[in-house]
Amino acid sequence: MKFFIPKDMLMGVATASMQIEGGEVNANWNDWYHRGFIKDGTNPATDNDHWEKWQEDTELMAQMGLQIYRFSVEWARLIPQEGKVDEAAVERYRQELLLLREKGIRPLLTIHHFSNPMWFENKGSFEKRENLSDYLELVELVVRRFGDLCSDYITINEPNVYATGSFFFGMWPPGKKSLGATITVMENLAYCHIRAYEMIHTLRKEMGFTDTMVGCANHLRVFAPKNKKNLWHRVSAKLTSYLFQDALTTAMTLGKFPFPMRNRWKLPKGAYTDFIGLNYYTRSTVSGIADGVREGSPRNDLDWEIYPQGIVECAGKLYDVLPRPIWVTENGTCDNDDRFRCKYLYEHLQAISQSELPFARYYHWCFCDNFEWIEGNTAKFGLVRVDPETRVRFVKTSGNFYSDVIRNGGVSEEMYEKYVAKQEYDVR
Ligand code: BGC
Repeated sequence: MKFFIPKDMLMGVATASMQIEGGEVNANWNDWYHRGFIKDGTNPATDNDHWEKWQEDTELMAQMGLQIYRFSVEWARLIPQEGKVDEAAVERYRQELLLLREKGIRPLLTIHHFSNPMWFENKGSFEKRENLSDYLELVELVVRRFGDLCSDYITINEPNVYATGSFFFGMWPPGKKSLGATITVMENLAYCHIRAYEMIHTLRKEMGFTDTMVGCANHLRVFAPKNKKNLWHRVSAKLTSYLFQDALTTAMTLGKFPFPMRNRWKLPKGAYTDFIGLNYYTRSTVSGIADGVREGSPRNDLDWEIYPQGIVECAGKLYDVLPRPIWVTENGTCDNDDRFRCKYLYEHLQAISQSELPFARYYHWCFCDNFEWIEGNTAKFGLVRVDPETRVRFVKTSGNFYSDVIRNGGVSEEMYEKYVAKQEYDVR
């Protein structure tokens, strides 16, 4: 064998509702599309149809041998108008959870993955402290209605990416560009996470369950100085990492709000995660305020550096904050023609298998090609291709490779020759 995956590490895939379900649900990303902000003009409402094809997709996941599945609920479907629950949507998600369990695939539910209903967006979303109770009402609904079918929860997906994309860079809805607003949103999301963490445990305990696992999906990158000998490059790499990810993960994990964040609620310090949720994609090369990509590095089709060792470096960083089992809640790459995804998978899983850290789960992003936010669906991350006209699903070569890895508990010489040996990255 080339390597074995860690004993008992569960393997599966991740998705998010707005990226695969389709449907005009009056969410911020539907609105963003209508306002013309999606680069390739993809309409999320017509992308993928998972809302209709959930049975077919679940069957396919089972056929692929997947053991775990991370997906999100769409807030705008569950609560389409303020204070009004859509029972049909609740029932639809219950059916999906039931089928997953029947197929032996363990679900991990993300409660918030970037998309907000317009009624919440229009009143200022996560920037306004008076709105945070709306998110907590969603958490309560999710646990009360799905808690008997699901023990594992992610409160919020990538709070740093949401806060910066939406409130600092202004590329995502609501398109704000304000450092002050970004910090406020980060504080508010940390508060939401901590309160949700407590609430999910309390509610499930009341329901008689003791197996609850709650965490957040932290997006971490390696920030490396362009020139290690240059003091400015080193300082800016540290500073970028601190402001983009380190301060926020500390706040969410421990309830300690480092500068410039403030604990406006006097939340007690604690240990607010049962697992380390890590979304890992790339390394940034820093030489100033804006980050860049190392010259002469292997790149994916969005020009992100491919740096497999970073998955271990980032997991280690979070583990130092609070030692818990590590769940890679996302890892994957934009490879539009499935030319190098097997190699990417191979190298990241190999890095995991050679590490001493307690990796317990790996969710590949993404199950299928999907609506990739402002990139639309031209940026392809899936193990499964979806025909744009017919919506028929085809497992890609990388999907077959992944299934073989799961079935064999690692990569054999033969699998390596068949799937990996001939693949090459673009180097730019
Ligand atoms: C997000 C996904 C996204 C993926 C690839 C992560 O930042 O959670 O929604 O599709 O990265 O860009």
